[in-house]
Amino acid sequence: MKRSKIKYLLQSDLVDNQVNAKGWVRTKREGKNVTFIALNDGSTIKNIQIVVDMEKLPEATIKDINTGACISVNGVLVKSQGKGQSVELIAEHIEILGLADPEVYPLQPKKHSLEFLREIAHLRPRTNTISAIMRIRHNLAFAIHKFFNDKGFFYMHTPIVTGSDAEGAGEMFRVSTLDPKTPPLNEDGSVNYKEDFFGKETNLTVSGQLEAEVGAMSLGEVYTFGPTFRAENSNTSRHLAEFWMIEPEMAFYDLNDNMDLAEEFVKSIISYILDNCMDDLEFLDKRAADEEKNKPQNERNELGLIERMKFVVENEFERLEYTEAIQVLLNSKPHKKKKFKFPVEWGIDLQSEHERYLVEKHYKKPVILTNYPKDIKAFYMKQNPDGKTVGAMDILFPGIGEIIGGSQREENLEKLKTRMEEMDVPESELWWYLELRKFGTAPHSGFGLGFERMMLFVTGMGNIRDVIPFPRTPQNAEF
Ligand code: 4AD
Ligand code: MG
Repeated sequence: MKRSKIKYLLQSDLVDNQVNAKGWVRTKREGKNVTFIALNDGSTIKNIQIVVDMEKLPEATIKDINTGACISVNGVLVKSQGKGQSVELIAEHIEILGLADPEVYPLQPKKHSLEFLREIAHLRPRTNTISAIMRIRHNLAFAIHKFFNDKGFFYMHTPIVTGSDAEGAGEMFRVSTLDPKTPPLNEDGSVNYKEDFFGKETNLTVSGQLEAEVGAMSLGEVYTFGPTFRAENSNTSRHLAEFWMIEPEMAFYDLNDNMDLAEEFVKSIISYILDNCMDDLEFLDKRAADEEKNKPQNERNELGLIERMKFVVENEFERLEYTEAIQVLLNSKPHKKKKFKFPVEWGIDLQSEHERYLVEKHYKKPVILTNYPKDIKAFYMKQNPDGKTVGAMDILFPGIGEIIGGSQREENLEKLKTRMEEMDVPESELWWYLELRKFGTAPHSGFGLGFERMMLFVTGMGNIRDVIPFPRTPQNAEF
C-alpha cells in the first residue's frame, strides 16, 4: 500500500480508509488489551496515534517496537475516541523496518538538554524542538526565494571559492591542494601559490557581494543565497564559521531605497512563517515561555515568540544615524552607571550590549542604524560628503543585535581606488570590480541578511548552533 504522510492523515480526509503510515516511534504505552504508539514521520510536529489490539499482533513484534524504532503500519484510519487527536490508526499489520535498542538509543522520551542534542546532531532532528526548527528553516528559505521572485529579482549563484576578501577582515579559510608539509616556496621563503591548484591563493568566500554587484550592474536586481565562511574565532551564541547569507544587490538604489527594501523583506518573510508554520511556532512559543521562567526577572522577554514576530511585522523600524545612537548610549543609564563592559564614544564598533540596549531598552523595536564611521566599515561603502562616515546601514533586532549589514556602494572609481589603497585592499585582485566603476557605473546598494540570525528570531532559540543542521564552530566540525 502507498504510504501517506502523517500530516495528511491527520487532516482526516481518509477516515474509514485503509492506509499505510511509516515513521519513527516516539512513545509506546502498553495496556492490558491495547497498546498505543505515538508515531512521527517528520512531516508535522504532530504524532499519529497507532492503536494496537494485543491479540491481533504477535507479542514479539510489539515488544520490539521501542522508542526510535522505525515501523510501517497498515490499518484503518478512524475518528478518535480519545482526547488530543482527531483521528487514530487501528493497526492491522506492523512491519518493523529498523530496530532501536532501548539500552543504547540515546533519545529517550524525556527532555534532553540542547547541549546534549548537539552531540547527537545525526539524531536530534527526531526531537520535537529540532524538527520544528528544521521545518521552519525550509519555510524561511522558501519565503526568501518567493519574496525576491515576486519582485522580479534574479537568483545569482556567486562562487564559493574566491581569490578576494570582500569584507577585508582577513578571516578566511584557505583552499589549497598543496602539500602542507613541503609546499613549493618562492625565493623569499613564502609559499608559491602559482603552483597551487588555481595558480593563485584562494579561499572560501566570506560574502557573495562583490560578484553580486556584477549581477546588479547588468541584470538590475539580483540576490545571492549561499553558504559563507568566516574563520573568526568567535565562540558566541551568534557566530558560526559556516553560515548562510542572503545578499540582494540593486542598481539605482540609494541608501533609503535599500532600507525600504530590507524592512519590507524582513517583514515579509516573518509574515510567511506566521502564516505557514503555526503548529511548529506554537510548540516553540510554549518552549520559549518555559525557558523564560528560568531567567532572572529583569532579563525576561515582555513578549512571547509569536507576539514578538507580530510586533516586528506590524511596527515601523526606528531609523537613526550612528552619531545619534552614540548620543543615546552616552545618555543611557547603563553607561552612566558604568554597567556596559565596553566603552562608548564616537568611532567605536558597537558591541552587542550597545545594540541590544538601543533595541530592547530604548526604542523597543528593530532599529536601522545608518552612516557609520568609515574606519569601522568595509572599503566598498559609499563615502559621505562629511569625509568621516559612509552610507552603511545595519538592522538591529531584539534578542539578536545585528541581523542585517548593508550599504550604498561607492560608485566613483577614483574615490574607491583611494579608499582601497588606504585600507590595503590590493587592486590587482579586484581589477574586475573596479571596472564596474570604469564602464557604465551607477549608484547601487545592497545588504546581507544572516540566515541563521533570522532563524534565531523566528524560532526563539538562544544559540545559533541549534538552528542549523550541522553547526561549524571553532574546534567543532563533527558530522
Ligand atoms: O555585516 P556583514 O559582514 O556584511 C557583509 O558580509 C556584506 N557583504 C553584506 C552585503 O552588504 N551584501 O554580514 C552580514 C550579516 C550580518 O548582519 C549577520 O547577520 C550575518 O551576516 N553574519 C553572521 N552570521 C552568523 N555567523 C557569523 N559569523 C556571521 N557574520 C555575519
Ligand atoms: Mg556587519
